[in-house]
Amino acid sequence: MDKPSEQLDTLLRETRLFPPAAEFTRQANFSDPSVYDRAAADPEAYWAEQAHFLDWMQPFSQVLDWQPPHARWFHDGRLNAASNCVDRHRTTVRKNKAAIIWEGEPGDTRVLTYEMLGREVDRAAHMLHDMGVRRGDRVVIYLPMIPELPIAMLACAKIGAIHTVVFAGFSSNALRDRIIDAQAKLLITADAGHRRGTLVPLKQNADAAVVDTPIESVLVVNRVGALSAITMVPGRDWAWEERMRAASYAPFAAEAMEAEDVLYILYTSGTTGKPKGIVHSTGGYLVGANTSMRSVFDLKDEDVYFCTADIGWVTGHTYIVYGPLSAGATVVMYEGAPDFPDRERFWSLIEKYGCTIFYTAPTSIRTFMKWGPQYLKSHDLSSLRLLGTVGEPINPEAWMWYHEHVGARRCPIVDTWWQTETGCAMIASLPGLIATKPGSATRAVPGIAVDVVDEGGQSVAPGHGGYLVIRKPWPSMLRTIWRDDERFQKTYFGQFPGTYLPGDGAHLDEDQYIWILGRIDDVINVSGHRIGTMEVESALVDHPAVAEAAVIGRAHEVKGQAITAFVTVKEGIETGDELTVELKAHVVSLIGAMARPEEIHFTAELPKTRSAKIMRRLLRDIAEGRALGDTTTLADPTVIESLKVRYQDRE
Ligand code: WTA
Repeated sequence: MDKPSEQLDTLLRETRLFPPAAEFTRQANFSDPSVYDRAAADPEAYWAEQAHFLDWMQPFSQVLDWQPPHARWFHDGRLNAASNCVDRHRTTVRKNKAAIIWEGEPGDTRVLTYEMLGREVDRAAHMLHDMGVRRGDRVVIYLPMIPELPIAMLACAKIGAIHTVVFAGFSSNALRDRIIDAQAKLLITADAGHRRGTLVPLKQNADAAVVDTPIESVLVVNRVGALSAITMVPGRDWAWEERMRAASYAPFAAEAMEAEDVLYILYTSGTTGKPKGIVHSTGGYLVGANTSMRSVFDLKDEDVYFCTADIGWVTGHTYIVYGPLSAGATVVMYEGAPDFPDRERFWSLIEKYGCTIFYTAPTSIRTFMKWGPQYLKSHDLSSLRLLGTVGEPINPEAWMWYHEHVGARRCPIVDTWWQTETGCAMIASLPGLIATKPGSATRAVPGIAVDVVDEGGQSVAPGHGGYLVIRKPWPSMLRTIWRDDERFQKTYFGQFPGTYLPGDGAHLDEDQYIWILGRIDDVINVSGHRIGTMEVESALVDHPAVAEAAVIGRAHEVKGQAITAFVTVKEGIETGDELTVELKAHVVSLIGAMARPEEIHFTAELPKTRSAKIMRRLLRDIAEGRALGDTTTLADPTVIESLKVRYQDRE
């Protein structure tokens, strides 16, 4: 394992401690510290207790059936995720409570109460059903952050169809790969989406993506009013609004799903060129999402909760849709960029809607820091009472800035470590119980058995680092990789049988706090988005000029990591700025803008071991200007010298 030593040194010098304020603890949902020991002593009893915060159509009699690495949670219970997120609130005082307060990037707004959301979901379920969608079918959703996105997800859930949301920033190629892998029959998209004042041509991307796939119908939401200008293929493409109008007004009878039925598939990057379809269950996933809303986010009925993630990523699935709605929250959902029309947008939203809980990513916090605190000054942020971060390690400096400028030193910060695969927050402070340290996600939440181990799987002593692992199954864990159970077993349970390996390095301090050090595999984290270096490499090599490519993440002040590519070209090809531009565009067209390399270095050769493995560690050392680590295993030591010289020339 590589040692990100500089980062570790800074972290270990961090000694500030922020205990929870007594007033916060007094009002917290989780205020009794014994919950940790209780959950550790009998995790199944703890999770069964939490499962009772959901409505079950048929109660479960067994909590866990664990046949490593396959877990079944609450398996003989039946429930419906949409009923839990919407319908059960329609029969209580929450009926007329705002479920979603939505604001579009241009400033248009829409508020959906639980009753209104329920009507939309029912109608959309009828519409999808009319179009032939049935329990178990896959529906791909490629939408911007508009209310139709959660409506479509919940409508699928109501029918028992499996949704696969593809982030609207993905290219048509990436969309197509996901459609094919999921074998989806229906695609939901929009004419276009708003992004930083420009339009993203979603329908155009979708048109290119669906050719020669199992997609039979495409539903198109008229988001920007361009529907009349785009080509609708007769018999295949349908206007969402028209089909909705044609659908029944009647309530849609929720399908009684088995707890282990698949709720959704969400693709994420791994260490090969092919993204993994992470499979989440209905019952266990919802229990995890719902529990963490109450524990980590301390959600109350009075809260106005704002998570800035995009629903295209897991954070939006769990912490905009399934977690908060199952807990009856009021969710603020924003369509666009934080700097549109100006750098005050988030703060304006918090002030306008009186947000009490704010959840964002370290990369955004570092961006706000760079912009400066003046953009917050003219806004009343006093409604805030709790802050959260997710997606990547937060550097103590950004943590302190968040604490001072956004939280006014008053709001606890929950740094939540989790993954697409884990379904919900695994390492995070319960804000009424745990003292926080800037830069540490603190400790595992109750019911989760996290450990840091060495190469042999032995727990490390406090004061040491190693691999982060999860020792026991948990309700919201991924169940498999869609159509690739072997990869599931190998990737997550291959190293230490029966123990889940997330792929992150971690350090355990003397107080048993966990400090996440970042990925230890070939996955990088750019602005909180996971990107497989192999995916970018495959995209580069796909270009006719490229012979070979090696992609690494180098430390970046704002993005956390930036994509750096080392490329060798084929004989006779000219390298230069023109090719650089072309290669970057090629990667964007194959994956999406988030995968665009920050820099491309042309080199005659790549440093390899004698067994022809590219030595990325050395490339990282070069890119970050460090002294080179061990070079004795290099097949040709001269390669590295010429690379170094070329690299420095470019600086
Ligand atoms: C990283 C996002 C440090 C980590 C929910 C993990 C974090 C990957 C944190 C998962 C955090 C996420 N502190 N690192 N609080 N949260 N990560 O699947 O490397 O997009 O493995 O899920 O992000 O990214 P994913």
